[in-house]
This record gives sequence, structure tokens and C-alpha cells, in this order.
Amino acid sequence: MSAENGTRSYKLEVWRQARGASSGRMVVYQVNGIDQNMSFLEMFDQLNEDLLRRGEDPVAIDSDCREGICGTCGVCIDGRPHGPLPNVTTCSLRMREFPDGSTIVVEPFRADAFPVVKDLVIDRSAFDRVVTKGGFISVNAGQAPEANGLPVPKDAAEAAMDSAACIGCGACVAACPNASAALFTSARIRYLSLLPQGQPERTSRVLGMVDQMDAEGFGDCSNHGECEAACPKGISIENIAKMRREYLRASLRAG
Ligand code: FES
Repeated sequence: MSAENGTRSYKLEVWRQARGASSGRMVVYQVNGIDQNMSFLEMFDQLNEDLLRRGEDPVAIDSDCREGICGTCGVCIDGRPHGPLPNVTTCSLRMREFPDGSTIVVEPFRADAFPVVKDLVIDRSAFDRVVTKGGFISVNAGQAPEANGLPVPKDAAEAAMDSAACIGCGACVAACPNASAALFTSARIRYLSLLPQGQPERTSRVLGMVDQMDAEGFGDCSNHGECEAACPKGISIENIAKMRREYLRASLRAG
């Protein structure tokens, strides 16, 4: 513990990369006076305030909701996407998880399909382009349907909800040795394939999304399982097996 108020101090090794630059480097910073109940992002806010006071460029790090919903805050902490705790996003991580005086290494998610924008901020628009190929249902506007007109079996509803929990943070890609986006893509396909509303576009959805995933330069899945371990929402790798079957079925139907 640091001297005053039971606060903590850390040495941070942070990836710094200028906007548009093709290479970067690790830079060491010392942060003091950190409350153990601060979130990881609040600790970065404090670092950036220190840097601004010294007239230095603050570290670019993405966040939005700061409550584990939006998926923008993902960084690698000590080599693990979102840090040391399972099922916890970077924004929900508290500094009490890191011993006082320790060194913490912070890097952006690494993948060719996620180019670094600046420092710890990456471009995840490849995920958006995958979703535009079918990760939705088309609805013809009109009178609202009767609420009980489309009954959904309980098992299917629960499995769909589990898959729909994906927040698109990209931790699965960062953790995979092949930089595969199979867990993300399969989760987005699966929940729609389980619901009656997803049936009319079921074939075009899986063909379009898987083809776009490949076109974006993500690697193939070779069943390492690192994606499932890194996912802060506990998305099951079972989704990938279901996606493969769904793709085969769609290919046969499409002729
Ligand atoms: S900032 Fe939204 S999930 Fe972390």
C-alpha cells in the first residue's frame, strides 16, 4: 500500500501508437494514489489527467457504457483480453485485482482485421460489415402482431438469449491464435436461427455473414477454445459447431 489513505501505486507499460502510424512502442508510466475500488478505466482517467497536467498526449482508450454492455472497452491486460477475471469486461474490472506495486501491461487487441486507430483504440468496423450481411431480421412495417401469435419454446428462447448476449467486443478474435471471428459470427447467426422471426432469411443470413467474415481477413477456427475462455459474456463455443451445420444446410439449399 502507498503511504497515504491506503491507496495503491502501479507501473503501467502501455502501447502508444500515433494515429495512422504503422508501428508503435511500449511506454512506461507510474500511477500513484489509486483507490483499490476504482475501475480500470477510472485508473486510466487519472493517468490521462496526470499526462495532460504535464502537457503530454493522453493515452487513447475506448469506452462508452462503462457497465459491460457496449463492448468498446476491450484491451489486452497482461496478455489477456479484458484482463485476469473470467466474464468481466475491462470497464468492470477493479484495481483491487492488481497487487499494490505491480506492473500492468496494456495493449490493444491484436488482429489484422482490427487495425489500431491510435494507442489502445482499434477499428472494429469489420464486425459491423459482417452484421450488415444478415445479422438482423427484415420487418415490413404495419400493424403490430399479436403478442402470442409467435410462440417460442422455452429452450429455444433461453439459448437465443444466451447467444444474443454477445457485445461484439472482439475479445474472441484477440484471444484466438488464428484471429478467428467464428465465435462472434456464430453467436449472431445462432440466436436468429432459433427464433421464428429469423426463419425467412435463415439461408441468406449464414451464407452472407460467413462469407463476409472470411472476406474481412479473420482466420478460421481450429477449435482452440481460447475465444470461449476470453469472452466476457460466456458465449459458448457450441455456437461455432451450430454455425458450421447451418452453413452446410444453407449451401445445399442454395444449390
Ligand atoms: S465500456 Fe461498454 S462494455 Fe466496457
